[in-house]
Amino acid sequence: MNLKTTADIELNLKRLFGQETSTAPLGSNKRMGRRIFGVDLTRPLIEEQAELIVGLLDRFKVISFPDQGSPSFRVRHLERLANHFGAPIPHPKNYANYIDYKKKKVPLALLPIDRQTPTLCNQAFPETLQCLDDANSPAVYIVTNLVGSGPDREEEIMGGLHWHTDIEFEPTPLSTSMFYVQAAPTTRNSPEGHWVENIPRETGFYHPDSAADLTERRNDLPLNGETAYADTAAAYADLPDDQRDALDNIMIRRRLRKGDPGWLIPLVYVNPRTGEKSLHSPIWASRGKNIAPAEVDGMSDDESRLFFDRLEAHILKTKYRYDHVHKTGDVTIWSNFSTVHNAPPAKSIINRPEDARLMYRISCKGEPRYSLPRDDDDAWVNDNILPPYRSPAEYFEA
Ligand SMILES: [Fe+2]
Repeated sequence: MNLKTTADIELNLKRLFGQETSTAPLGSNKRMGRRIFGVDLTRPLIEEQAELIVGLLDRFKVISFPDQGSPSFRVRHLERLANHFGAPIPHPKNYANYIDYKKKKVPLALLPIDRQTPTLCNQAFPETLQCLDDANSPAVYIVTNLVGSGPDREEEIMGGLHWHTDIEFEPTPLSTSMFYVQAAPTTRNSPEGHWVENIPRETGFYHPDSAADLTERRNDLPLNGETAYADTAAAYADLPDDQRDALDNIMIRRRLRKGDPGWLIPLVYVNPRTGEKSLHSPIWASRGKNIAPAEVDGMSDDESRLFFDRLEAHILKTKYRYDHVHKTGDVTIWSNFSTVHNAPPAKSIINRPEDARLMYRISCKGEPRYSLPRDDDDAWVNDNILPPYRSPAEYFEA
């Protein structure tokens, strides 16, 4: 499908979704980010519609569909959409015994209902805010500050996290992630007029010897609960030819824990549909302070860190940044191969519902499918998804 120019995009969008649809840049960064108006994601997509939406993500790296249909939108609509981009991954936190299942091969059990995140969220402001009734899908991770919150609680703020890519360390890394926003904070009453004040993050996420300019870029985080993104495709494209050629040959050793043998994954991702190249998670410690940093094949630990830090300083330049303000009703999708992101400072405990964040996240891996259900074979699912998982068949019934 031809999506080269804005006119091509609008033509295809109107042809497939109707004359009321349109698109606009998400921010001042024209290369990354597009808002797509007028698409109702509670309806299943026909093949060409799915191809267009996958194509839009390939083109813009972050796409957002506002005004998704309250009260009819459900988590299953998000999960059905996710299946077009890849196979949804169940989230370990939804299980009572995921670690034992993985290590000791005991049968896996979901959390009992009284410990499930939706149940805990629903206790915060029971009169005003309740999770969607199908929020307990194993594939959904709920990003929220409702757990432990309530009218009598004292507000708490946590500092921002670190720039990272979700699940970049597995042999088949996550391709795509998405949020459905049921509630986003609307208060802006910090002393500076933001949702929160910028408080320092916990220590230990970044190496103490990081360069000053990199540290400054890392710490320049938004304060209204935005997810901050950096475009690693544009950052790659802007490098001189000789640097791009050199990066094309770099292999990164990714692994869960230091001491694991891990596996080698190319630093440069080549999009199989467009041929566009991007830097896949060019971050030394994508998972922060607890887990093994990545290594460049053939480099020492220190050389690897300096190599990654130079790339991180490049991709975090303002011109590659886009900070997405979440709004109630948004479905926002991002490519994990072509962006890195960051969770900024946020209220982690709240005492009024206007400060609530309630977002449902689904991540997926593998290649897109334009028609559903997906046809991933059992061997691929068993090798790449733990626990092996497929979305329920009824999600795909018309
Ligand atoms: Fe993340």
